[in-house]
Amino acid sequence: MTISNDPSAPLVVITGITGLQGGSVTRALAESDKPYRIRGLTRDPSKPTAQAFAGQGVQIVGVSLAADNVAGVTKAFQGADILFLVTNWNEHMDKQREISEGKMMVDVAKEAGVKLLIWSGLESLSAVSGGKFPRVEFFDAKGDITEYAKQSGVPLALVEAGYYATNIFEAPYALRKQPDGSYVFGLPVPATTSVPVIDVAHDYGLYVRAAIEDPALGAGSELYSGILISFGEMITTLSEVSGKKITYVQMSREEAVAMPEYYGPMLADMFQAFEVHGYYGPKPTTRTDLLVRQPRSWADFLEAAALEDLLP
Ligand SMILES: NC(=O)c1ccc[n+]([C@@H]2O[C@H](COP(=O)([O-])OP(=O)(O)OC[C@H]3O[C@@H](n4cnc5c(N)ncnc54)[C@H](OP(=O)(O)O)[C@@H]3O)[C@@H](O)[C@H]2O)c1
Repeated sequence: MTISNDPSAPLVVITGITGLQGGSVTRALAESDKPYRIRGLTRDPSKPTAQAFAGQGVQIVGVSLAADNVAGVTKAFQGADILFLVTNWNEHMDKQREISEGKMMVDVAKEAGVKLLIWSGLESLSAVSGGKFPRVEFFDAKGDITEYAKQSGVPLALVEAGYYATNIFEAPYALRKQPDGSYVFGLPVPATTSVPVIDVAHDYGLYVRAAIEDPALGAGSELYSGILISFGEMITTLSEVSGKKITYVQMSREEAVAMPEYYGPMLADMFQAFEVHGYYGPKPTTRTDLLVRQPRSWADFLEAAALEDLLP
C-alpha cells in the first residue's frame, strides 16, 4: 500500500471507510501508481479497520454523517479534491433519513468545491417500473439522491454497486438447510432471473478508481458494477464448488410477501423488479474492460470464500 502525504497529491475523502465499499475504494486507490492523500471518515476512529488504514497512512477522522451535523461534515470534507460518498441504509432502514443525509452531503461537497463527487447510487425501481414496484426504499432513496446531485451541478460520477455475492448466504428466508443436509434456495422469481454480482470488498473500488483515473470517465460518467449471472446458475455453481446438494425452488410472491412485516413486500418488489426490468433497469451493465484488473466472477468468489462458514 502506498498512500501519499505530499500536499500536491489529490485529497480523496472516503465516507464509510470501515465498511465494505469505502474499504474497497481505499485499497484500490492505495494500489494505484498515482499518488493520493486519503482521509477516511468513521464515527469511531478506534475501530481496528480504521486503525489498520491509519497505519498505512490514511488520515482517519471521526465524524457523524447525520443530516443535522452540517458543521462536522463541512470540516471533514474540507480541502477534498475527490469525495467518495456512500449512504448506509442497512443501519436505520429509513428512506427519508437516507435521502436527507445524502442530499446534505451533496450540498456540503458542492460548497467545499470538490472536483469530483463519486456517488454510490442505485436506480429508483419505482421510476424504472413506472410505479409497479414502489416499495424498494433503499433503491428509490438512492435514485432520489442521484437526481438531486445531478441537478446541483456538482461534478458527479455515478458508480453503482452490484448485487453483493455475500447476499446469497445472508438470506435465511432464501437459503434453507433440509433435514438430510441438502439445501433449498428460493426467491420469488424464476431461476433465470439475473443480477450483476460483485465481490464488493474485493472489487467495487476498481470501478471507483476507473471513474477517477480513466480520462474518458470522470465527471458526467456512470459505471455499473458486477457480472451478470442468473440465480439458477449461481446455485448450480455453488452446489458444484461446495459439493453440497442445493436446489433452486422458486418461492411464490405470497410466500415472499408473508415474510416479516415490511421486509417481505419490499423484497418481493425488489426481486420482481430485477426479473421484469433488470437490476439497473434499462441502463447497461458493467464494462470490465475499463478496470485495471478483472473483477471476481461468482465462481472466483466461491473459490476464494470460506464455504464451510458460509454453508454450515
Ligand atoms: N447488499 C447489497 O447487495 C447492496 C448493493 C448495492 C448497494 N448497497 C448499499 O450499500 C450501502 C452500504 O455500504 P457498505 O456495504 O459499504 O456498508 P457497511 O459495510 O455496512 O459499512 C457502512 C459504513 O458506513 C459508515 N457509517 C454508517 N453510518 C454512519 C454515520 N452516521 N456517520 C458516519 N459513518 C457512518 C460506517 O462507519 P462506522 O460504523 O465506522 O462509523 C461504515 O464504514 C447501503 O446503503 C446499501 O443499500 C447494498
